[in-house]
Amino acid sequence: MKYSEHDMYLNPISVGLLLIAIVTLWIYKRRDRAKLPPGPFHIPFIGNPWVLMANPDLRKSLRRLHKQYGDIYRLYVGPKPAVIISGYDAIKEVFVKRGGEFSDRPDSLITNLIAEKHGIMSSSGKLWMEHRKFTLKTLRKFGFGTTNLEGKIDSEVSILLSEIAKQNEQPFNIQHLVQTSVSNVINAMAFGGHFNHDDPKFTKMMKMINENMENIGSNNVALFFPFLRYLPGDMFRVKKTLRNVKYEQGFIGEIIGKHVENFDESKMEDFIDAFLLEMKNNRDQKSSTFTKKQLIRTVSDLFVAGTETTTTTITWAVLYLTAKQDIQARVFREINEIVGTDRVPSLQDKHYLVYTEAFIMEVLRVCNIATVSFPHTCAVDTKLRDFDIPKGTTLLPDIDSVLFDPKIWGDPEEFRPERFIDKKGTLLKPEEFIPFFTGTRNCVGQSLARMELYLFITALVQRLELLPPDGETLDINEIDGVFGVTHKPKPFEIRAIQRKE
Ligand code: HEM
Repeated sequence: MKYSEHDMYLNPISVGLLLIAIVTLWIYKRRDRAKLPPGPFHIPFIGNPWVLMANPDLRKSLRRLHKQYGDIYRLYVGPKPAVIISGYDAIKEVFVKRGGEFSDRPDSLITNLIAEKHGIMSSSGKLWMEHRKFTLKTLRKFGFGTTNLEGKIDSEVSILLSEIAKQNEQPFNIQHLVQTSVSNVINAMAFGGHFNHDDPKFTKMMKMINENMENIGSNNVALFFPFLRYLPGDMFRVKKTLRNVKYEQGFIGEIIGKHVENFDESKMEDFIDAFLLEMKNNRDQKSSTFTKKQLIRTVSDLFVAGTETTTTTITWAVLYLTAKQDIQARVFREINEIVGTDRVPSLQDKHYLVYTEAFIMEVLRVCNIATVSFPHTCAVDTKLRDFDIPKGTTLLPDIDSVLFDPKIWGDPEEFRPERFIDKKGTLLKPEEFIPFFTGTRNCVGQSLARMELYLFITALVQRLELLPPDGETLDINEIDGVFGVTHKPKPFEIRAIQRKE
């Protein structure tokens, strides 16, 4: 048999493949030497994505794995290991006591491609630290967690109630209406804006955010195999997601442009103004992190995180109130006794509306919209208990393992607001109640979210009787949750009947 010259020499593709194989084997060898936490069988390069994708309810898969492998175990998402931290003790050990070591964000489609490691959510190290501090300080200045913001939220609640009244007590899906109102609260703080419920540009923007939240959920294999996005077509919706992000950034860029045009140092009215001032004050420093890119990404984080999470929680609350009429009646009774119906519930009433607060906490616990929080990593090779954790490893805090731990809650599967009230009728605040996560990287918007949940939900129950469509009962078990970036209920309809004065 004769060999041609072409057969004798390796062509560039073969050389490339050979090099990739050598590098990958080297990485695997290095990892083999590391003592990673235990975990299920995986195939090199492929990992074991089926262990999470087998059950549409992500929480059920995580509970099974936690039981089998303990508090710290690993999965392989594609070629890379991800370590799951479960149970309150392990979460506290890693993200509170050693929070400084585990507060970076790992490389991923979201952090690298969408956010380009900017903003708050996807940044790490000095950039993250500086901007988390600046954002908290600035948002506090514009009302975060204080009563100054109450009037703004009240006016959005009142617009929401009139939009609901337009439904004429017919079945409707409340999610979109809530989303616009909630978004307008963070918009006011971030860029002093308000959008009408029928504003076409804003509605388009909301639609894109919703699409992205579903597209880049834990069930999208392109998150584990980023190269899939280069395949022709858009089977994994990555291209669509990036197009949506571009639109979103253009939308925010336009708003920033208007702020730049009208910038007046003596009139600081919102987050963008405060950031532009910081940019101006730092313009001589080459290493300043106050850049336009960082501004766009931060506003985008506030906009997306501040809208999606709170909207989803209020939507779950409406679902539970509608499905559990006895609980709705008890919340209404309490509001009626303490506030009456002549004025809207205020933050000053919050302390006395113990059952209502317990109801909101139980919604946050059971619906647990951030099931595995957001990925963390460490900047250097380190150890956790007996295990090696190579730098850059993804660590996922399994919040569900805490909020559904029978050792903490007794009967976690039951929806029972009373669990947050003691014998004397006082509201309990267990340290294991961590829907906003815990430690150095906990939720920046927690105080805003708690204010919004309280003011929106009390006003809805005070003014409206929330009923299933067609007077039938609504079976909560038939409305599954969908796991995208957040855990949200599948679309459902209710009727909202005006309560008689
Ligand atoms: C019910 C509503 C909310 C829930 C349950 C929630 C939950 C969470 C959770 C679990 C994290 C991830 C922590 C981590 O592991 O890194 C987080 C981060 C974050 N949240 Fe929220 N959140 C809510 C509302 C809000 C609101 C209203 C804002 C608006 C300001 C917001 C802004 C953020 C930001 C910017 C981060 C990133 C923090 C960082 O990386 O340092 N969230 N939130």
